[in-house]
Amino acid sequence: MRDRYQRTIEYLRVSVTDRCNLRCRYCMPEEGIKRMRHEEILTFDEITAVVRALAKLGVHKVRLTGGEPLVRRDITDLVAMIHAVPGIDTVAMTTNAVLLADKAEALKRNGLTHVNISVDSLNGETFADIARSDAAAEVRRGIEAAQSAGLRVKLNCVPLRGVNEDEIIGLIDWSRQRGLPLRFIELMPIGCAAASGLKGIPSDELREMLSRHYGTLLPHLDRQNCAGPASYYDLPEGGVIGFIDAIEHPFCTSCNRVRLTANGFLKLCLHARDGLDLRPLLRSGVSGEDLEETIARAVRRKPERHHFGESGGDSRFMYQVGG
Ligand code: 5AD
Ligand code: SF4
Repeated sequence: MRDRYQRTIEYLRVSVTDRCNLRCRYCMPEEGIKRMRHEEILTFDEITAVVRALAKLGVHKVRLTGGEPLVRRDITDLVAMIHAVPGIDTVAMTTNAVLLADKAEALKRNGLTHVNISVDSLNGETFADIARSDAAAEVRRGIEAAQSAGLRVKLNCVPLRGVNEDEIIGLIDWSRQRGLPLRFIELMPIGCAAASGLKGIPSDELREMLSRHYGTLLPHLDRQNCAGPASYYDLPEGGVIGFIDAIEHPFCTSCNRVRLTANGFLKLCLHARDGLDLRPLLRSGVSGEDLEETIARAVRRKPERHHFGESGGDSRFMYQVGG
């Protein structure tokens, strides 16, 4: 379906839990996290009902996020349920890969097609500095398992000034040796990130640094696997890198997505409060048709752009909305 700004909405991101087995400094506070109560969190049947309604409205791609989606019990079952919804052709996941090594095969078997894996560092110490837990080895094993299982893998890195800055070339070379596209996400000033004292590295600066190192970056033309808010480049010596410039170049005009939080709020924009609380509706035994109609009405209201740092912004943290 189209919203009132003629954007086609075809992609749903579902946060399946607000919990995570890591504590990345820009994402979660170390302590004092206010967790959703168990009974607030949508069941797999409830999530699937929302997916079914959105699939009827033209959504064909679903991404599972968190928190960390692999900490939700029986997550492989949810993958199968979503994969079975008519109209859904892509089931993807964004994960920190700590638990992926054991689950990659089953996820692939149940219909998962793509995984995006967060790797801010592969160095034990730097990883532990960012994520407050030394899981670099598990992440590496998770990435290998995903590739062996036949999942399409992309890597995400948030470049941080003075933290993983000197590892960026190393990460790129590690990724391209394995045939994995690596995307750099500009640190977004939401939730914890602002208070953490961490500074992101602007994409423009990274591109400049990388073209000095590798030679001119060539815009990547194969858009098939590279849709969405990232801009991709081929490195002269081989390998694909991407940039998600959250702040400098807002990607709102081509936004094709809506989000469902773990407790059932349909978010129309990553950083606006506007949306629709679906949980009461789902728990009142709403019919599939009424659900579809209510969602369609809400999606048409999708805001034109995000409002980082302005009033009307959302104060929810990244782990509560799934990125
Ligand atoms: N800014 C940018 N990226 C973030 N992520 C989490 N919080 C932020 C933030 N404030 C990233 C994670 C992961 C993806 C889902 O979002 O590193 O790769
Ligand atoms: Fe967990 Fe991802 Fe947040 Fe890190 S960025 S704490 S891995 S949800």
